[in-house]
Amino acid sequence: MLAKASSERSVVCANRPLAEMSRFYVTTPIYYVNDVPHLGTAYTTIIADALRRYHLLRGHSTRMLTGTDEHGLKLEREAKKRGKAPAEFVTEMSDRFEATWPKLEVQPDDFIRTTQPRHEKLAQWFWEEIARRNPDDIYLGNYEGWYCVGCEDLKTEKELEQPGNICPLHKTPVERIKEPSYFFRLSHYQDRLLDHYKQHPKFIRPETRLNEVVSFVQSGLRDLSVSRTTFSWGIPVPGDPKHVMFVWFDALTNYWTALQGDEEHKKFWRGDSEIVHLVGKDILRFHTVYWPAFLMSAGIKLPTTVFAHGFLTVNGQKMSKSLRNAVDPLGIARAFGEAIGGNDAAGAEVLRYQLLRAISFGQDGDFDFAAMIERYNADLGKNLGNLLARTLGLCTKMTGGKVPPRTEITQLEKDLDSAIQADRRDAIAAWDALEPHRALERTWAIASAANQYVDRAAPWAEDKKGNRARVETSLNTLLGVLALLSVLIWPARHTRCSRLSRRKWTRRRPGPRRRPGPRLRPRPRLRFSTNSSQSLICESALCEARNESPKRTSFSSYRWIWASPNCGPSLPALLCLFSPRLSLAEELSWSRTLRRASSARA
Ligand code: MSP
Repeated sequence: MLAKASSERSVVCANRPLAEMSRFYVTTPIYYVNDVPHLGTAYTTIIADALRRYHLLRGHSTRMLTGTDEHGLKLEREAKKRGKAPAEFVTEMSDRFEATWPKLEVQPDDFIRTTQPRHEKLAQWFWEEIARRNPDDIYLGNYEGWYCVGCEDLKTEKELEQPGNICPLHKTPVERIKEPSYFFRLSHYQDRLLDHYKQHPKFIRPETRLNEVVSFVQSGLRDLSVSRTTFSWGIPVPGDPKHVMFVWFDALTNYWTALQGDEEHKKFWRGDSEIVHLVGKDILRFHTVYWPAFLMSAGIKLPTTVFAHGFLTVNGQKMSKSLRNAVDPLGIARAFGEAIGGNDAAGAEVLRYQLLRAISFGQDGDFDFAAMIERYNADLGKNLGNLLARTLGLCTKMTGGKVPPRTEITQLEKDLDSAIQADRRDAIAAWDALEPHRALERTWAIASAANQYVDRAAPWAEDKKGNRARVETSLNTLLGVLALLSVLIWPARHTRCSRLSRRKWTRRRPGPRRRPGPRLRPRPRLRFSTNSSQSLICESALCEARNESPKRTSFSSYRWIWASPNCGPSLPALLCLFSPRLSLAEELSWSRTLRRASSARA
């Protein structure tokens, strides 16, 4: 049976043979540590994590990188303001970032800090490599112009708001600087960049952003100042330590310097690895003009895609610390976790779902706690929760908790199967296209179709008529749908799935007992008709997923859940996955929750 299943194609990648599977390297911007993380910065990190998990499910070798950007004038001044040495200050703040991600159910493979020696060494190598390969590309000159410390970027007069030379992003006056500086000969790369955009339509996404960048480059590129001499909190320029590197030169190289050693570079940068940088729309130019030009000059492969997302807004205004409307993601997770009678992790999962589902990735989106509650009730309660509760309730009553056979297939099942296949294909295509909102929308369409199917198939009525074959077929069909959903939902809500191997499985892993998660009420009592090999396969799949093992078997094991003729192992999986209470409506005191949410705002 094992041999047969492994020769089949898998659930998630039915359209793609295993031989084509490859490597996926996803990055977030590295965050300035002048302040703590807020929901806006958590947004990209959560999306990157979900994409990584999706690729893990597909059996790809995956790697997710995030980290902190710790050099530059902004941080030097912030440290001074707080009476601390820059190194001490950035370490404290970076630790807060690093500690935040696991609390949001995000598990990056690597966390880079630009003050780490591993980064500094390779950033200097990068500079030297440019100078070695193209001695003309870096030259010494004098820079005179405007500088926005908030953006850590040079500004032209045209970009500023008048009167007062105001940065349009930070709404603060820019500073005039005049100092010796090394320049990067960006002007030489104009045609090569335009050519690259043309040859690689996936390089800048979404497409509207491509047009924006193309017209910027077509309007003419000026050489870029890449070093500073009036402060010292940065990486010294090789051979001229009076200069420190321009903070963006230093920061952009992190995506490459984080891969240490030939093996990692070979695996995730060279060859056919898909390299995806997720960035906010405000830093698109750095990633699609400067970064590819640096890479071209150093003779290094360019990333596959730079995807620019929109801003999270509050009442239509960009969420940011400086505008004092930033929302604390951990506060939201805590408040929501409490509201649903679970822990912070349960709240974090709902927050993840909301961010992934509610905002079209690429566009601005307003964050609204009331909308999050509404979606929780509608999608996770009424739709998915209802499907789960009905199916398990019916199984408890009509099949004694056993997974029944599928013996009498009618047009109802055929219609449902074809609707589901289409939605499943669309969901997968959407994950591939970096559109998690659409992927989840299609996934939930499967749950809606299955809810309609229960009404039409009416197993309770067939039961009354004594039509066992129909009862069993419809319940088997529903369990199959839930099994598929448990896979498709995993990138967004994986914790419940990962708990699986610790609960109800034939083999318990050694180690301390954990607190049980929130319970489904009334909890159906089910006996699982699994055979031991299936249990074992599923157990190892879920352990692997939890432990971030890059082994491909995790994916092929998921196939088993679906391919299994008797869906046995999926039942406990489903219980763990969808254990939030079925309806929040009665339990949730709106005013109390909203009060908590507002006090959670930073
Ligand atoms: N350090 C640079 C990035 C260097 S990457 C080589 C930086 N840091 S940042 O902390 O200011 O911003 C990091 C990211 O957070 C940016 O992509 C920015 O767009 C994003 N966001 C900041 N506020 C945001 C929202 N309100 N909504 C969504 N993303 C937001 O720039």
